[in-house]
Amino acid sequence: MRFRLSEEHEMIRKMVRDFAKNEVAPTAAARDEEERFERGIFEQMAELGLTGIPWPEEYGGIGSDYLAYCIAVEELSRVCASTGVTLSAHVSLAGWPLYTFGTEEQKQLYLRPLAEGKKIGAYGLTEPGSGSDAGGMKTTAKRDGDHYILNGSKIFITNGGVADIYIVFALTDPGVKHRGTSAFIVEANTPGFSIGKKEAKLGIRSSPTTEIIFEDCRVPARNLLGKEGQGFKIAMQTLDGGRNGIAAQAVGIAQGALDAAAAYAKERRQFGKPIIEQQGIAFKLADMATQVEAARLLTYQAAWLESAGLPYSKESAMSKLFAGDAAMKVTVEAVQVFGGYGYTKDYPVERFMRDAKITQIYEGTQEIQRLVISRILAK
Ligand code: CAA
Repeated sequence: MRFRLSEEHEMIRKMVRDFAKNEVAPTAAARDEEERFERGIFEQMAELGLTGIPWPEEYGGIGSDYLAYCIAVEELSRVCASTGVTLSAHVSLAGWPLYTFGTEEQKQLYLRPLAEGKKIGAYGLTEPGSGSDAGGMKTTAKRDGDHYILNGSKIFITNGGVADIYIVFALTDPGVKHRGTSAFIVEANTPGFSIGKKEAKLGIRSSPTTEIIFEDCRVPARNLLGKEGQGFKIAMQTLDGGRNGIAAQAVGIAQGALDAAAAYAKERRQFGKPIIEQQGIAFKLADMATQVEAARLLTYQAAWLESAGLPYSKESAMSKLFAGDAAMKVTVEAVQVFGGYGYTKDYPVERFMRDAKITQIYEGTQEIQRLVISRILAK
């Protein structure tokens, strides 16, 4: 067993850390305040190869692995969780199902531009009436000659409105619930496809979250991903890996908050000495650092399992569960270390705290992660 990253992973970490520090961090607070997504940052990520980290070069990627991808999401989220989730949804939720279930033609047509960062990807599963109960969706896809006609709507879509390619789930056979679900590749310029409400959010405010609407949206039959009826499994398997991307985001947020709190505690003096020398603060920081490290190890382990082609559903549910909770605890404590200053926008910890909350909710709530883990234990 080795607890050191390979040279390639260390190199990717350093590259993303430098990029995050120099190009992402300086505008993070303003983008959060203005709820502003910047395509330019995404394009810069593409130039570095981040948009196609785990995909082979033949599909426009850089041929690395899921661990490198998690390290990239972590380093971005350490300064800006919105940028972290932009990449996470793009790679895990759009690229992954295309890579895993796409035909050669679909991969060349859709995965390649995503991997090269010429296009942005998104994933549409959740509906107003079906969140945790993903199988309760209502959106339909009716076959009509060489097209499917989609009707319905999806909500809480990360990268909504800025994405060019959406992986969407709809019922081709409404009578048999999840066994009648199919997956589709929908281009944003398809007639009948439109963007609905954009959410105003507590955190990850520079990552757009919107509704997407299908009104007699005619999707070519060749854009069916996998087979008819296979959609629910595609959705679930996609989330298995996606959850670990969110765990990586949570680790990054927590690390960012810890870095800020530790630096502040060394400078801030009360009762004649730096507050890091006061046991109340010192022990808090020790607990925070331990949470971050444990979350990181679970996340890297799940990524390593996925890269090695081994089962990882349980481990990625565990990593998201633990890392999401760790991010919430650590960011709340970081605000506490800063005291009154932490509650202001003069420091980034209040943003980290707001951003952390979503990691306990999306890609399956913490309660759903427990369901997934316990069902695997029961098998
Ligand atoms: N891999 C492969 N197949 C799976 C699977 C997995 N991980 N999980 C379930 N399945 C299969 C089951 O084997 C079963 O197959 P059969 O029909 O052949 O028996 C089928 O799927 C149905 O499984 P369940 O009976 O377990 O289904 P369920 O209705 O009880 O739901 C659930 C399971 C885990 C609760 C699921 O609904 C779920 O994950 N809910 C949460 C949804 C979620 O995470 N949403 C996040 C939206 S995306 C998001 O947040 C994105 C963002 O923008 C960042």
